[in-house]
Amino acid sequence: MPQPTVIHVIDDEPVIHEVLGQLLSAEGYEVEISTSGEEALGKLEDREFDLILLDLLMPGLDGLTVLKRIREKNPQATVIIITAYASVESALEAMKSGAYDYVQKPFKHEELLLTIRRALDHRSLRAENTRLREELRGKFSFANIIGKSKTMETVFELIKTAAPSRTTILIQGESGTGKELVARSIHQHSDRSQFPFVTVNSGSLPPELLESLLFGHVKGAFTGAVSNKMGLFEAADRGTIFFDEISALNPETQAKMLRVLQEREFMRLGGTKTVRVDVRIIVATNVDLEDMIRRRTFRDDLFYRLNVIKIELPPLRKRKEDIPLLVKHFLEHYGRENNKTVDGMDEDVWRLLEDYHWPGNIRELENLIERAVVFTKARIIDRTSLPAFHLAPHPPTSVSKFEAALSFKEQLQAFQRQVIVDALHRSRGVQKQAAKLLGLKPTTLNEMIKRLGVETENHY
Ligand SMILES: Nc1ncnc2c1ncn2[C@@H]1O[C@H](COP(=O)(O)OP(=O)(O)OP(=O)(O)O)[C@@H](O)[C@H]1O
Ligand SMILES: [Mg+2]
Repeated sequence: MPQPTVIHVIDDEPVIHEVLGQLLSAEGYEVEISTSGEEALGKLEDREFDLILLDLLMPGLDGLTVLKRIREKNPQATVIIITAYASVESALEAMKSGAYDYVQKPFKHEELLLTIRRALDHRSLRAENTRLREELRGKFSFANIIGKSKTMETVFELIKTAAPSRTTILIQGESGTGKELVARSIHQHSDRSQFPFVTVNSGSLPPELLESLLFGHVKGAFTGAVSNKMGLFEAADRGTIFFDEISALNPETQAKMLRVLQEREFMRLGGTKTVRVDVRIIVATNVDLEDMIRRRTFRDDLFYRLNVIKIELPPLRKRKEDIPLLVKHFLEHYGRENNKTVDGMDEDVWRLLEDYHWPGNIRELENLIERAVVFTKARIIDRTSLPAFHLAPHPPTSVSKFEAALSFKEQLQAFQRQVIVDALHRSRGVQKQAAKLLGLKPTTLNEMIKRLGVETENHY
């Protein structure tokens, strides 16, 4: 979606406002005028401009100081200096402080327009380079979402189809299945990729704080609001805002979100001006929102707005055919990172990985491989480099032949052992936390661990 290019003119002379206003608007640029350095810096608190035209000689804050402040705040800002003949020297000094170019007053219209076009080209080239470098670095590139299973192929198709539009996307999947990775990849493959990708973690904050974080506030909106502050929605303007764990959103914020989705505008806390933003919203959840709707903890009207396109990320245990590719990818990655050449894993380890149920999904697999690469002394990883819980049996999805041969009591104990091992693993060996997960008293869990002979070491 092409956005007009916005040029911020900072000059104290009304004539210049008039001339530049007409000239630049006729060229299709949007013009914002500030009549002093102070005014301009105030505006820059709130938004970014594609280009800044700055007069050096102004009463109050002089141009050079304003330039320095602008560059401090945003080293990427592109500034063209407008200067009278007498002050070419300071124009050169301004160039040293990071201005892109300068134009002398009185200027020819064509000359100024040419300089502006060059500066804008330069700016977009730089943005493009940054983007390419990021893609090459590969972290978020499409190719780096690994998977060849049918379900992942469907996910890839959905990403490709949905990325270019502004459609809201709901990503659902268990912890560690790649929700954030997919969200970033969607952003990278949209025409918003040069603009911010902003992540909101809704869970950890009290409602008032979250709202001020999201929508910003004006000075004096509450105790502690000592200045105007823009929120994450504004920071994400023209880009993407990603709500990690949307299910954690409290009811009041849910209501506000609904309004933003419907109207694409909102007010800062304590403010009276409506703010319009152009953001794409992506949300992630690892719980079933429809289930929450039934329990009336999530608004159905918000859900329908969010659930325009739904991407479901399957748990790793349901796409074990992806394990070899993922392992290869992580072995190469962590091999490089640790300056080690690791060729692969032995048969025994492959079998363990295939049999394991992966409660932590890809994140868990990634951690396991990283650790194995660090620990292994040989070029082929064997079971001695794996943490103990992967070697232990795990909760059966069906009863294995081995277990069927055991008595009822023995099977029950085997199952209890496995459930506890799993909880210990999830809580990284902290028994108190594992007890909480299982809904047991810590003392009860400890007693069971002893009775069942559960291994408590190595739950990293
Ligand atoms: N398909 C994949 N290919 C390669 N790496 C992946 C893939 N899926 C996930 N990962 C990696 O696994 C880790 C966890 O992924 P991510 O943070 O996106 O998961 P998540 O679903 O957001 O988890 P959580 O619900 O815990 O926030 C990351 O390091 C990510 O790069
Ligand atoms: Mg995440």
